[in-house]
Amino acid sequence: MSTERQWDIVSGVGITALAVAAARAVEASRPDAVARDTYAARFVEEAHAPLPLATSVAEAAAMDPTGSWPAFATYAGVRTRAFDEHFERAVEAGVTQAVVLASGLDTRAFRLRWPSGAVCYELDQPLVLDFKLNVLRGDGVTPTVPAHRPVAVDLRHDWAAALEAAGFDRTRPTAWLAEGLLPYLPPEAEESLFREIHRLSAPGSLLAVEYYTDLRQALDSAEERTREWARNLEIMIHTDPRPTPGERLGGLGWETRDVPVTEAAREYGRALDVPAHISGNAVFAFARRG
Ligand SMILES: C[S@@+](CC[C@H](N)C(=O)[O-])C[C@H]1O[C@@H](n2cnc3c(N)ncnc32)[C@H](O)[C@@H]1O
Repeated sequence: MSTERQWDIVSGVGITALAVAAARAVEASRPDAVARDTYAARFVEEAHAPLPLATSVAEAAAMDPTGSWPAFATYAGVRTRAFDEHFERAVEAGVTQAVVLASGLDTRAFRLRWPSGAVCYELDQPLVLDFKLNVLRGDGVTPTVPAHRPVAVDLRHDWAAALEAAGFDRTRPTAWLAEGLLPYLPPEAEESLFREIHRLSAPGSLLAVEYYTDLRQALDSAEERTREWARNLEIMIHTDPRPTPGERLGGLGWETRDVPVTEAAREYGRALDVPAHISGNAVFAFARRG
């Protein structure tokens, strides 16, 4: 671990994981939810966040008449479903080693169907991982994946060595996920992230990544610029232009398919009336190493 300051679930970048969990809880409360994470609300209840967070559609609407929170929940639901399906496709293809980068309060290791022999590594800051596991353990929830391996790292530094030390097998195809991560990484850390993913990926590996085609433009289009949340977010993220995942991996033997969030939402039958500063120009990239 680096000596840089660590964050927990209610501070620094950690609180963004809590906000996403709140959004998943709101989505799960809808009768027509596109993704149903039944654990998400518990994290919000246990965290005692310094900012109010909704866990139901009614709370979200009452808290935010501008509609940003309900819209963010829709976005989170669509994103959750798209990446749930990434792991489902991986399992169907026989890829049973999973790595969730910046897992935050992701509960896929506790709610998806995994076959025998499957292993799921979850990488995040130690206090974020501890919080999630403590809440789930306290509720008597056990992983659905046969081998669940949390790995405490700073993804700006040498996370690959920690992953291998935890048992990761680079000769085995891997299903990777980077959801809600890239904007928090400085450019050189993002470049290194893709380099390491490529280095550790056996043929047949699959990668799903959320990225923004122009994060600066998405932020600039925000209407509620004075809101505390928007200000906090802006401090934490990097908006410099970068190559897309397809551009990074294209020359390295990966085939990449880009799915704009609006297209994913249409596929799930949900109108995505999400302001640009939330869904913005988000794209879900799915890549396979041949
Ligand atoms: C927006 S949350 C997304 C969490 C999860 N992927 C999800 O979609 O629910 C961002 C996550 O990235 C993690 N993160 C950001 N930068 C990191 C770093 N340098 N090292 C480890 N984790 C990091 C945070 O701790 C947080 O859990």
